[in-house]
Parts: sequence; C-alpha cells; structure tokens
Amino acid sequence: MKALITGSGGLIGSECARVLCCDGWDVVGIDNDMRAQFFGPEGTTRPVVEELLATLATYRHYPFDIRDRQEIRDLFRHERPDFIIHTAAQPSHDKAAMIPYDDFDVNALGTMNVLVAARDFCRDAPFCFTSTNKVYGDRPNSLPLVELTTRYDYAHGLDGISEVMSIDQCLHSLFGTSKVAADVLCQEFGRYFQMPVGIFRGGCLTGRQHAAVELHGYLAYIIMCAVTGRPYTIFGYKGKQVRDQIHASDVAHVFLHFFRRPRCGEVYNLGGGRQNSLSILETIAILADMGFKMEYTYQEQHRLGDHICYISDLTKLRAHFPDWQLEYDLSRIIYELAERYTRQTWCGVDDILK
Ligand SMILES: NC(=O)c1ccc[n+]([C@@H]2O[C@H](COP(=O)([O-])OP(=O)(O)OC[C@H]3O[C@@H](n4cnc5c(N)ncnc54)[C@H](O)[C@@H]3O)[C@@H](O)[C@H]2O)c1
Repeated sequence: MKALITGSGGLIGSECARVLCCDGWDVVGIDNDMRAQFFGPEGTTRPVVEELLATLATYRHYPFDIRDRQEIRDLFRHERPDFIIHTAAQPSHDKAAMIPYDDFDVNALGTMNVLVAARDFCRDAPFCFTSTNKVYGDRPNSLPLVELTTRYDYAHGLDGISEVMSIDQCLHSLFGTSKVAADVLCQEFGRYFQMPVGIFRGGCLTGRQHAAVELHGYLAYIIMCAVTGRPYTIFGYKGKQVRDQIHASDVAHVFLHFFRRPRCGEVYNLGGGRQNSLSILETIAILADMGFKMEYTYQEQHRLGDHICYISDLTKLRAHFPDWQLEYDLSRIIYELAERYTRQTWCGVDDILK
C-alpha cells in the first residue's frame, strides 16, 4: 500500500512517515522546505527529510510546492496513492498577518489543489486533513469558567470542547481563517463528492521534533527555557491558561485508524483530552519537580485571541475508533522533550547557554 504525505518534513508529516513505513507502507513525501521561508534558516526541515531518506527504506521524496496545481496533479496521476495525509501548511498566527497572501495560498488554495487531484486520480483513497482548533476562533473563551488554584476549568462539569461548537462570528486570526477555508473545503469534498475525507481539528500537537518559538508551541518552548536557563514570560490569564497535549505518534495512529474505518467529511477534535491537559503554572511546577527550576516574568496582556481553557472532547473520536488510545501521557511527552533539550545543550549543538 502506498501513502502520500504532504508536509512530510514537518512535525506531524515526518512522524506519520515514520509510523507508516514501520507499518509496512510505501510512503511518498511532498515538502518544499517552505518552513525555512516562513521562519528563516532555523526553521528548515531539510535535515528531517534527509533523515527520513536515510533511515526509511520505503520513503521517497518530492520537493514539490502544493501551490503548484499542475505539478500536484501530475504527481497524483503518476503515484495514485491508497491513502493521503495532508499536513503541509503555514502554521503560525503571527506569521499569517505578515504574509497574508502566502498564508492563504498555502493553507486554502494548496488544500484545494490536493483535494481536486485526489478526487480526479484516487477518489476512494482515505484522506486525512490536519485542521486546527483555531477554526473555533476565540469562541471557547465565551464558555463559563471557574478559576482554580493553578488553572481555569469549565464550569458546570463540562469535560471538553466538542465538534458542535460554532466556528462562526468570532475572532480567528488570518491563519485561523485560511484553515477554516481548508477545513470547510475538506468537509465539502467529503459530502458533495462522497470522498472519504476526515478533518482533524488539532489543539497542541507536539513531539520530540517540535520546533519551539516563544509564540508558537508553548510546551516545547517552556521546556527549552527550563532546561537551558532561558527566562520565560507568561502572557496573561495569571498563567492559568490550559491546553491539552497530544504526541505526533498518537496523531499518526489516529490517521491509520481512519484509514481502516473512513467516513465522508467527518470532523473530529483531536488532542490529548483532559488526562493530558495542563496549565502554564502546572507545567512550571512539574518542571521544578524534575529539577528544572525556572525564572519567569509575568505580563498582564494576554496574546490576541488566546484560548483561556482549551481541552478537546474526544468522545466522538473514541466512539468512531474504539481501538485507538493515547500511548503518550503527559509525563512521557515532557520527559522526551526535556531529554532532547538536555542532550542538545550537553552536546553543545545548542548555543543558548553561551
Ligand atoms: N503543531 C501543532 O501544534 C498544530 C496544531 C493544530 C494544527 N496543526 C496543523 O497540523 C499541520 C502540521 O503541523 P506541523 O506542526 O507539523 O507543521 P510544520 O510547520 O512542522 O510542518 C509543515 C510542513 O509543510 C511544509 N510546507 C509548507 N508549505 C508548503 C508548500 N507550499 N508545499 C509543500 N510543503 C510545504 C513545510 O516545509 C513543513 O515541513 C498543519 O496543517 C497545522 O496547521 C498543527
């Protein structure tokens, strides 16, 4: 069986390539290293692609741009994959405001190109799209909350946010909007053309390869600060803002479950759920227990549109894929990231301590 993965050099795409190759798949990856264009040379995913090519015997790579409609059509016509995982994207809110055309061209039009090529050349191949919980904009902040000692939580015993939440009439950021366009396009190809397209609205997806920056990927960033002694700033909400974390490997396994039991145009919230949720204050306490005492300052102004409390309700995901379960709990996720930054620091690869 052959899978085609867009964004195969990225955090989620590369993990999917590893998991599928280990599972016996031939994998065709597409990634043009546009991350280096978005975030500068440090954002490059080229070494990851080199690692995939060197370590996975059944991995092949095309450095194609998903915006290039003809190239994508030719590739699909030639490869005719049995399974498609579409993760290529411009992933940052802040960047989107600086490069609105590029953001929309990659996230929305690029998704359209992949969908139409799939419809025309491998219509029955299950198709997983990595959407985002940012399609809900700042609406989660309108839910009634309670303030606890170390975190905010939902009032009235609400466990998490389900797929019935409206995505309409709230603040999204340009990134959130281009992903809404792609999310709804994917739903429509599922419903209108009856294609087996699954839309997975991720929250905080993380893993060893997570590239930490201050305003994006908070868990990796805070762990990097703790390990290397870099000062950390909490932005608003008293540090009680909550996120649920899911490891890239668990994401890849959800996609494999969808491959086995696909549905047309189905939307899923995808995260670590309540068991993998934590606030910034709680993260700092866990890191202190591990021996990483952090220096941090507090700024009253929260990030624009930032969720106060976001925990994915996994009821639908678990009902549709009863054999899927999280392999990575919070301590395993945190330990893996801490180990990575510790090793980088001791090897002198990272010059942060200088
Ligand atoms: N990481 C998260 O916390 C998170 C949360 C919610 C949703 N998501 C979504 O999951 C998907 C994957 O996220 P990620 O963290 O792996 O991102 P990433 O930035 O690590 O990977 C994306 C990859 O896509 C490639 N790419 C970008 N534009 C391209 C183009 N025009 N043509 C070909 N390749 C291109 C990049 O070079 C990069 O390697 C994205 O759609 C993102 O919006 C991620």
